Amino acid sequence: MKKGVLILILSLFVVMSFSGCTPSTDNTNENEAPAEDPIVIGFSMADLRVERWQRDRDLFMEKAEELGASVVFVSADLDSDVQETQAENLILQGVDVIVIVAHDGEKAAAIVEKAHDAGIKVIAYDRLIKNSDLDYYISFDNVKVGEYEAQGVVDVVSSGDFAYLGGSPTDNNAFLVKEGSFNVLQPKIDSGDINLVLDVFNDGWKSEEAYRQLKAYLDEHKTLDAVVAANDGTALGAVQALKEFGLDGKVPVSGQDASLGACQMIVEGKQTVTVYKPLKSIADKAAEMAVAVAKGEAVETNQVVNNGKIDVPSYLLDVVGVTKDNMMETVIKDGFQPYEEVYQNVPEAERPPK
Ligand code: BGC
Repeated sequence: MKKGVLILILSLFVVMSFSGCTPSTDNTNENEAPAEDPIVIGFSMADLRVERWQRDRDLFMEKAEELGASVVFVSADLDSDVQETQAENLILQGVDVIVIVAHDGEKAAAIVEKAHDAGIKVIAYDRLIKNSDLDYYISFDNVKVGEYEAQGVVDVVSSGDFAYLGGSPTDNNAFLVKEGSFNVLQPKIDSGDINLVLDVFNDGWKSEEAYRQLKAYLDEHKTLDAVVAANDGTALGAVQALKEFGLDGKVPVSGQDASLGACQMIVEGKQTVTVYKPLKSIADKAAEMAVAVAKGEAVETNQVVNNGKIDVPSYLLDVVGVTKDNMMETVIKDGFQPYEEVYQNVPEAERPPK
């Protein structure tokens, strides 16, 4: 420790001698503004398993680079301890700002604190970081996501035995999406039209887990009327379980993300609804926010969201419910998924005109 302090003092002395006491040897014209250090953004993601996150990463990096910043990207593979260590590393590297998709919205509060100790601001991307002095939050309207999911299902089957396959309990979005779905389901549960037979969370939003959860129910009860699944990954697990009981394509299933697999299942009649969240909008906006934060400029927000400790300045984007009927004018029109791939298993004569 003492040796460290000594080295520090000596180095400071060396730096001071070169910068102050000896004549400058560089050729910078005194009238020119000193070149600005390029901005470095640390981008910490919870995992890359779900299709959307790779896209979020690529779009974010593209926009950040267009704005003259560089990005150090890390992914924690669904482990909050790994995410914290990786964030500590970003802090040590001296990044100008940290953008996080938190695996655990409670535990990530420690990252905010450590970043702040080092004078680095933190932006929560898509998932809120709870009970912390988080600087900014950018996401979609996740309650509306849940409403579209349940409404899409209820539009097809409005009574009977319903299963709710939720998201990860470490992710605040799982609660917001559930809140939205229950805005639609609860009145029908109260009136006795809907019998909620399964209501589960799912660590890590895993397809395999959703499959296991629904299969366990079906093994015992053999039948079901509807599945409200919290995202396209859990929807996929649900459809696989339904298939084993001859129920795929018969029981409505929801999801979100407009992933290629889900869009294909929708046009093939195996999934009922997904929710399209324009990822370019969130990635571009987040990159702009990060650069503004790093430069100390004003950051555009459109509301505040309370995270249990403070009102976090936030930017929430709108979402679109997608069924077979509006696939063409939403996901396809925006170029989010290609027509040829979405309709690849639909006979050409049955495809909508391009
Ligand atoms: C996101 C979803 C995603 C899920 C699983 C949620 O926080 O909002 O878009 O499907 O995480 O990764």
